[in-house]
Order: sequence, then C-alpha cells, then structure tokens
Amino acid sequence: SYEVDLDTCGPMVLDALIKIKNEIDSTLTFRRSCREGVCGSCAMNIDGRNTLACTKGVDEIKGDISVYPLPHMPVVTDLVHDMTNFYAQYVSIEPWLHTDTPTPEKEWMQAREDRDKLNGLYECILCACCSTSCPSYWWNSDRFLGPAVLLQAYRWLVDSRDEATGDRLDQLEDPFRLYRCHTIMNCTNTCPKDLNPSKAIGEIKKMMVARRL
Ligand code: SF4
Ligand code: FES
Repeated sequence: SYEVDLDTCGPMVLDALIKIKNEIDSTLTFRRSCREGVCGSCAMNIDGRNTLACTKGVDEIKGDISVYPLPHMPVVTDLVHDMTNFYAQYVSIEPWLHTDTPTPEKEWMQAREDRDKLNGLYECILCACCSTSCPSYWWNSDRFLGPAVLLQAYRWLVDSRDEATGDRLDQLEDPFRLYRCHTIMNCTNTCPKDLNPSKAIGEIKKMMVARRL
C-alpha cells in the first residue's frame, strides 16, 4: 500500500504510479509509453475493471485505488504480465493483406464505403483488456483466440482488398478458436477504446453460416 499526495500529482492513475516509482518505491514495475491511450501498454485492472492507467482519472474512483495486473495472465513482476501467448495468437491470424492478383503499380485501391467497414476495428490498440476480462478466455486461452484477436481477424475478413477470406474462415472454423465465445460481452463492456469485439465475433459467425448456404 502506498499513500500519494494528490495535490502534487497528475490526474491519472498512471501519474500516481509514476509518482510512487519516482518518490516512494523505485522497485514498483509497470509498463507505459504514450500516456495518451494509444500504445496499450499501461493496461491493468484498476478498481476491479480492466482499463488503461493513463486514461483512467484518479477522481473517477472513490476511496483507495486497487491496482492489479490484467486477470489470468502470467505475471512477470508487479503490474507486468506476460503477453507471449496473446501476441502468438495475433500472429496466428496473419494480420496482413493476403492477395493473389499482382501488386498494382501504385497502391491497392479501396472504395470509400469499403474503407468505412474498417471503422471500429482498426482503432484497436491490442491492450488485451477485453480478452483478459472474458471468462472463456480465462479458462481456454491456450485454444480460444479471445475477443481482441478475433476482432483483428474480422478486420482482415472485411477488408475489400484481401483475397484470403475463405482460408481465413477455414482457420477460425474450430470449436475453440472461435466458438468458445459465448457472447458474455465483458469484452465490449471493458474496452477502453469503446470498440465492440463481441459484435465483430458475431459477424464472423454470420460469415461462417453464410458460406454454407
Ligand atoms: Fe484493447 Fe479494445 Fe482492442 Fe480489446 S478491442 S485489445 S480492449 S482496444
Ligand atoms: Fe500508452 Fe497508456 S501509456 S495507452
């Protein structure tokens, strides 16, 4: 437990953690970089909710502030959790453009309305707040991809320029990788960027059904 003088501290929980590290306990260890909700590295469980320490105001919390690493992740030290499995799952969906047609001389063109389909998806900062709030992911993170990675998978499935939709769906057609989502929706409740992984997962399931018809 640490006591922090809020009159000499910045307004965010991250400011308080930095103050503790600088002035009280230099061993306190946590990740941070951008301090404006863009890099995703300061994700932690604050006052019982997964969020970003740099965008969570101290004044949003009444009384003592409890801070823990993201739930059900292996802890390296203090507030630093091991993201190895999460990143490996991200790599497994091959998050880049797959094409068979020859690369155009200048650029891959995309209609404005097709580009709009990526809104609400491309903004994901891979903080893992959503995946680590999901009970299905807690119990099966070795086989269930989890909401963050599935939202990313959908981002490539709906990209009009991508030509590997069938292969991508084949990779997801699995009782665990996709279908361990039981629409609990903790992911959507907790996302600090106001994204909707649950909806993205629902759209993937619809694509699975549509291709069978
Ligand atoms: Fe973080 Fe939201 Fe992306 Fe999940 S969907 S990783 S909570 S930004
Ligand atoms: Fe980058 Fe918080 S420090 S999101």
